[in-house]
Amino acid sequence: MRTVHVSTGKPYDIYIERGLLDKTGEYVKSLSRAERAVLVTDTNVAPLYKWKVLNSLSAAGIEVTTHVFQAGEASKHLGTVSDMYKTLADAHITRKDLIVALGGGVCGDMAGFAAATYLRGIDFIQLPTSLLAQVDSSVGGKTGVDLPQGKNLVGAFHQPIAVLIDPDTLNTLPDRFITDGMGEVIKYGCIKDARFFEFLENENALDHIEDVIETCVSIKRDVVSRDEREKGERMLLNFGHTLGHAIEKLYNFSGISHGMAVAIGMVMLAKAGEKHGITAQGSADRIAALCEKYSLPTTESFTFAELAQAARSDKKSAGDSINLVLLREIGDSFTQKIELDKLEEFIAAE
Ligand SMILES: NC(=O)c1ccc[n+]([C@@H]2O[C@H](COP(=O)([O-])OP(=O)(O)OC[C@H]3O[C@@H](n4cnc5c(N)ncnc54)[C@H](O)[C@@H]3O)[C@@H](O)[C@H]2O)c1
Ligand SMILES: [Zn+2]
Repeated sequence: MRTVHVSTGKPYDIYIERGLLDKTGEYVKSLSRAERAVLVTDTNVAPLYKWKVLNSLSAAGIEVTTHVFQAGEASKHLGTVSDMYKTLADAHITRKDLIVALGGGVCGDMAGFAAATYLRGIDFIQLPTSLLAQVDSSVGGKTGVDLPQGKNLVGAFHQPIAVLIDPDTLNTLPDRFITDGMGEVIKYGCIKDARFFEFLENENALDHIEDVIETCVSIKRDVVSRDEREKGERMLLNFGHTLGHAIEKLYNFSGISHGMAVAIGMVMLAKAGEKHGITAQGSADRIAALCEKYSLPTTESFTFAELAQAARSDKKSAGDSINLVLLREIGDSFTQKIELDKLEEFIAAE
């Protein structure tokens, strides 16, 4: 068992252990006075893991109602959350009860948002089952949904009472989602941990998945604890994301996954950093090689002008300027404000 303690405003622990889903009930019992729970999961995850969690909660004496939504990002909207509110009300969930989020990032974000808002906030526990959710989205307390105008535009900060990570669930995760999650895993090495980056170069991450998850959540925990509300350091987690989001947007959010777009964004920024003499020479090649090792793309064919234009509409851009995350070298990152008008010139620099 590995435990990572998170000391945000409301402290909680992240537990990593194979087979942990079978112990959900014990953990809930030790952390909460809940008599009832709503188990939120999606149509792919429900048939695989719902019963493990249901049986464990029931054995601990908790009355469970299951809420299953259609899997996929397309479900991540207020209508689905509204359906959850109905289930919560019908199940007579009170302030001492809880929501159990079993699934990938979509499930965690939405169930977390329902928990943040139902009765002005009830407890929830994260049981992340995708690699992305295990290394990234289940930690940090950001919850929310998409609007037709953009991703994650409505949300709340709401910390779970615990995160239970069962790496065995990755055995059923389709390969393309493993690849997707590896984009974020590589990002952690780039921004904070050169030794971890080397480890990913020399070993097969999947052979050491518990170490990998523990390292990633520890890095995210450190960054988030120092900047719970995303005012400064937390921006480092957006390395590769400004251009990544632009690429996703240019693809109309289909045909390229988030992790793939982030991989391209990371390589592009490292290249730009090298050209400007900010980033150590050779970093971009190493990042590209590592992305390729884990089946991630590193280039695409949009022009710098198209990318800069798409980046303008990113909600994270503060007015006329944008906070770009750059590397001094692998493992050492910082943010630099850059005017949006200069972004194209910056990434295109020869
Ligand atoms: N809150 C945050 O800080 C944060 C950070 C990063 C990403 N996100 C959000 O996370 C979401 C992406 O997360 P995701 O990639 O996990 O998406 P997802 O929840 O849609 O899961 C990906 C796919 O894998 C399936 N799946 C999940 N676990 C499985 C398993 N063990 N076996 C088989 N299939 C499984 C799902 O049903 C889905 O089809 C986005 O909405 C993004 O905005 C949030
Ligand atoms: Zn990301």
